Amino acid sequence: MKIKVQRHNTETQVSDIIEYEVDLVNPTLLEGLNYIKTQDDSSLSYTAGCRSGVCGSCAMRVNGTEELACAYKLSDDDLIEPLKNLPVLRDLIVDTNKMMQYNLMAKAWSSDNNENISVSQEQSESNELQSDCILCGACFSACPVYEVNDAFIGPFALTRSWKYVADVREQDTQEKIEVIQTNGIWDCTLCNECVPVCPQGIAPKQDISMLRGKAGIMGFMDPNFSTSFGGGFGSPSFDGSPNFNSF
Ligand code: SF4
Ligand code: SF4
Ligand code: FES
Repeated sequence: MKIKVQRHNTETQVSDIIEYEVDLVNPTLLEGLNYIKTQDDSSLSYTAGCRSGVCGSCAMRVNGTEELACAYKLSDDDLIEPLKNLPVLRDLIVDTNKMMQYNLMAKAWSSDNNENISVSQEQSESNELQSDCILCGACFSACPVYEVNDAFIGPFALTRSWKYVADVREQDTQEKIEVIQTNGIWDCTLCNECVPVCPQGIAPKQDISMLRGKAGIMGFMDPNFSTSFGGGFGSPSFDGSPNFNSF
């Protein structure tokens, strides 16, 4: 079969689509790339590790959709491109530092955990799924908001934020909700593009909706909504109670 691969040379800043022949039966994309690298063009660059869908390092786009190269079965005429919304270092290798920086901005970690609070089985299972994230970046790549707002904290960090905000032992949820007000939960269009591409079945859109609900309960609201009505984050309504804006 023949496949097309987008090549990118960082020194010259030139990108090209190159066609390669893959002489294998029913290969995965990763096997196809390994074939090209060993049989045809040793300069082709990509990342991979576990070869079994665990490490998250081989995410790339096939015909415009995010896939793990080690899990995707190649078809004739497939177009292989690097993840979107992240700087391309070379060919199919992207720099994921940006999504890690947004994770830092969102303070998406356990910061003040009261271990004396007991967690029920149900509570523990409710945010277990987010722990399965393999940092592949597929959700970040699929998000269309980056076309208009490069500072969007994004699905990767926000779904992790929900994991800690939802943890009943976490004492610092106010701060975690505050830091995702700007370029965060209200900038998501709830388009769902990040959900089907996650190889772990995590649903960032759903977690962002949960964060919005939690923010509403704390008195925060969509800044677009508050601007239209002359209020601000968590500004009190006329009867003195916090404004809520649940979706
Ligand atoms: S649901 Fe929100 S975070 Fe997910 S892709 Fe759409 S805009 Fe981005
Ligand atoms: S949430 Fe899913 S798609 Fe996003 S980085 Fe984690 S595993 Fe990848
Ligand atoms: S090589 Fe580890 S997920 Fe594909």
